[in-house]
Amino acid sequence: MFANLFLQAKKEQRKLSMVTCYDYSFARLLSQTSIEGILVGDSAAMVMHGYPSTLSANLDILCLHTAAVARGAPEKLIVADMPFLSYRKGVNAALDTAQALMNAGAHAVKLEGVAGHEDVIERMAQSGIPVMGHIGLQPQSIHQYGGYKVQGRDEETASRIAQEATTLEQLGAFALVLECIPAGLAINISESLHIPTIGIGAGGGCDGQILVLQDLLGLNTDFEPKFVRHFAEGAQIVCDAIGAFDAAVKDGSFPSAKESYS
Ligand code: KIV
Repeated sequence: MFANLFLQAKKEQRKLSMVTCYDYSFARLLSQTSIEGILVGDSAAMVMHGYPSTLSANLDILCLHTAAVARGAPEKLIVADMPFLSYRKGVNAALDTAQALMNAGAHAVKLEGVAGHEDVIERMAQSGIPVMGHIGLQPQSIHQYGGYKVQGRDEETASRIAQEATTLEQLGAFALVLECIPAGLAINISESLHIPTIGIGAGGGCDGQILVLQDLLGLNTDFEPKFVRHFAEGAQIVCDAIGAFDAAVKDGSFPSAKESYS
């Protein structure tokens, strides 16, 4: 149902917006917006738990965050990330993982790459699980890359990524994330597919865009790659508010009589 809305949007050339979210209170706010989807990303490991990579987002962590988001924004498409290696241990193990995420409230799951787990993608798609692919920079392969680097700059890698996109569509994925690839490559891929591409660091030619919520709100000042735009100066707003609270506590103006029980 949700997956069909994504396909329909592409047919009608309507752009899709997605953001990540990991908690109930932000999900409540997102449910008041017009974005089409929420990703409970494995970036939760870094953004919410302070780990150095996404590899630490295990199934327990992702189920907990997925359930919180689902309670806050039940009417939005909620996509949950499949944890590192959870789809590399055979079809049954992957189905169990997807089942746990969907029981927690996800409507779809996302996994990185294609080669070596084509059978998993196909079986999930044939089992009623909407699957979102993720190619280009795959953060779960960070140790293989040796850093977060733009992918697909040379001809060989570009044509491998384009082939992966075609394969994902053929295997039944309903959408795919293109992360950190040249804008021209993202346009070629987007034009060659029926399913929508959701870009992050992949230029404006994708069918939709996704950003990490804390990045777009300007809450994460430690991480400012080229592709992130701050749509608010969140860190400043939060620090100013906490500073005002602190000052009011210390000068005795908070709480006032109106803010106290008689
Ligand atoms: O986990 C995440 O935040 C993601 C986005 C970068 C697409 O996968």
